[in-house]
Amino acid sequence: MRIAMIGTGYVGLVSGACFSDFGHEVICVDKDARKIDLLEQNVMPIYEPGLAELVAGNVKAGRLSFTTNLAEAVKDADAIFIAVGTPSRRGDGHADLSYVFAAAREIAENLTRNSVIVTKSTVPVGTGDEVSRIISEIAPDKGAMVVSNPEFLREGAAIEDFKRPDRVVVGSEDETATEVMRQIYRPLSLNQNAPVLFVGRRTSELIKYAANAFLAVKITFINEIADLCEKVGADVQQVARGIGMDNRIGPKFLHAGPGYGGSCFPKDTLALLKTADDNDTPLRIVESTVQVNDSRKRAMGRKVIRAMGGDIRGKSVAILGLTFKPNTDDMRDAPSIAIIQALQDAGASIRAYDPEGVEQARPLLKDVTFSESPYAAAEKADALVIVTEWDEFRALDLDRMSEILATPLLVDLRNIYPPAEAERAGLRLVGIGKAA
Ligand code: UDX
Repeated sequence: MRIAMIGTGYVGLVSGACFSDFGHEVICVDKDARKIDLLEQNVMPIYEPGLAELVAGNVKAGRLSFTTNLAEAVKDADAIFIAVGTPSRRGDGHADLSYVFAAAREIAENLTRNSVIVTKSTVPVGTGDEVSRIISEIAPDKGAMVVSNPEFLREGAAIEDFKRPDRVVVGSEDETATEVMRQIYRPLSLNQNAPVLFVGRRTSELIKYAANAFLAVKITFINEIADLCEKVGADVQQVARGIGMDNRIGPKFLHAGPGYGGSCFPKDTLALLKTADDNDTPLRIVESTVQVNDSRKRAMGRKVIRAMGGDIRGKSVAILGLTFKPNTDDMRDAPSIAIIQALQDAGASIRAYDPEGVEQARPLLKDVTFSESPYAAAEKADALVIVTEWDEFRALDLDRMSEILATPLLVDLRNIYPPAEAERAGLRLVGIGKAA
């Protein structure tokens, strides 16, 4: 299959690289000439494990290429994927679809045949209808078809998620388009046994939002249970294990922490609420989730302050992990931002360490000193706070930490360390959802 991928952001680049790895011929398009230039030199615009190698291998095999020329990529393509950004629109939380519609217009102007146009960007219900309208207005004689094919990959595990998905969802209103999509995903259904679910276009669009909202609800639920655990002397990790063993609940996405962040959950829950509001069908559980998660991030700052005795003026706090989760350099809606702000507002000075996120964090975090290692950050600090569970933090030398900290206090907002281990090193441990 000949595939054009419009947009080389997270989803576009990973999808393009993986499709070429399936054996398809893929051209990735971006307006940003610098980005394309760098990609041609195998410099990735994002940090994602395994991506540079995957891109290099497929470029070398002649299946993957990059261009700023959309017309060239669209020409003769069997399928054209729209994978441009859909950020939250300023002011109202609606998904900003201007990039999607602009891409649709440009594709329509350059169509040479009855290509399948696929929205891979996360788009509100009804966007496929609008894309279809734009295409048939500009190119009425080409017979192009529009399908929805949302992407469920997680940052940091993007390639694995793309190649071994739980399912692929395709929303199509047209038998020919359905067949093209079946061909594109054939390697997955053959080799990985991944079910491809064919549904209507609007249903497919809603599945993506409903999935992300459900996961956000699940995380927020266990976070609130964690707060209750702290009050009643229960252990949230054991509660999560106990409920997760019920197949109807499942063990995943039950790790209590400082609140969800990232490029998807915050933005997609807001966009879903807008759709619900526009259709006069309130989603109260999702509404509460958004509110609870927002306030949780600052509340985590207050938790650290409490652990440090209440008055932290003039004290110094070492923060480990800034990105919203490990294995990414993404700082979007990272809990670290609100936590650090709360600590600074209370008068503390901050030293921080992150394996990959410092460049992205620097403009967002004022008056923070960035350290070269977890130990440099911890030197003479009054508390050590783990905010993101990078693997590197799972094997810290706690004895050394205990020696170099001014106060031997470890606040572990990801519950990486068992109390006994911290205790052995002489550290006081404050975790999430544990009896104090
Ligand atoms: C998410 C969805 O998982 C993915 O399917 C979708 O395509 C995009 O959004 P991503 O944002 O990359 O992916 O990260 P994910 O691993 O899902 O984590 C999201 C947030 O939830 C992170 O802040 C993470 O720390 C938090 N989280 C996740 C928890 O706090 N506890 C958990 O148990 C799981």
